[in-house]
Amino acid sequence: MKVGKLFWGLDPVLEISNSGGKGRREKMEQSALTRERALELLHQYNENESLRKHAYAVEGVMRYIAKKRGEDEEKWGIIGLIHDLDYEKFPDQHCRKTKEILEEYHWPEEYIRAAVSHGWGICSDVVPQTELEKYLYAIDELTGLVVTTALVRPSKSVMDVTVKSVKNKWKDKRFAAGVNRAIIEKGAGMLGVGMDELIEDTIRGMQGVAEAIGLKGNPA
Ligand SMILES: [Fe+2]
Ligand SMILES: [Fe+2]
Repeated sequence: MKVGKLFWGLDPVLEISNSGGKGRREKMEQSALTRERALELLHQYNENESLRKHAYAVEGVMRYIAKKRGEDEEKWGIIGLIHDLDYEKFPDQHCRKTKEILEEYHWPEEYIRAAVSHGWGICSDVVPQTELEKYLYAIDELTGLVVTTALVRPSKSVMDVTVKSVKNKWKDKRFAAGVNRAIIEKGAGMLGVGMDELIEDTIRGMQGVAEAIGLKGNPA
């Protein structure tokens, strides 16, 4: 096993403690799990710009909701950032590979479980249980609908997207046909949150990262 080297490849202290650990696998402390390191890992596994932007969008929404609810913004954001980590390189093993990769890097179990639960019923059998997991499950697809709604506006800006415009597009099944509306509804149901509020939070979260996701629009 390539254990020591995989501790983000830079911490000799952890390597030493791991090699003397009687076979027990060292866990990465949550404090060592910075956004910078998560981003490094995301870029390492995802070169595609659209996939990176999707990751930033989901991160932005997760952060927004965490802040609104008084939760751990950093944790919610990092999980949002890496939830599709394996998708570019291992699309046929989506979720399963993410689990493997994050385990190799000794990420905390809570983070791995949450990331994998977003694919519940599609590529994983891990049912979203915590609020964090349920939100991730619910907003993942919804970000796609918000992106497409922004792109058909003359401004091509997420700043102009409203709850009403997303709901109008929601009804048109041919619009953003790849977005699975049933998953979003299921997620909202699990959370006990109204669709308007979920859409509003998703738009707001994405507006906060408009530049990074390429949806700031063109100045008139
Ligand atoms: Fe996914
Ligand atoms: Fe996703």
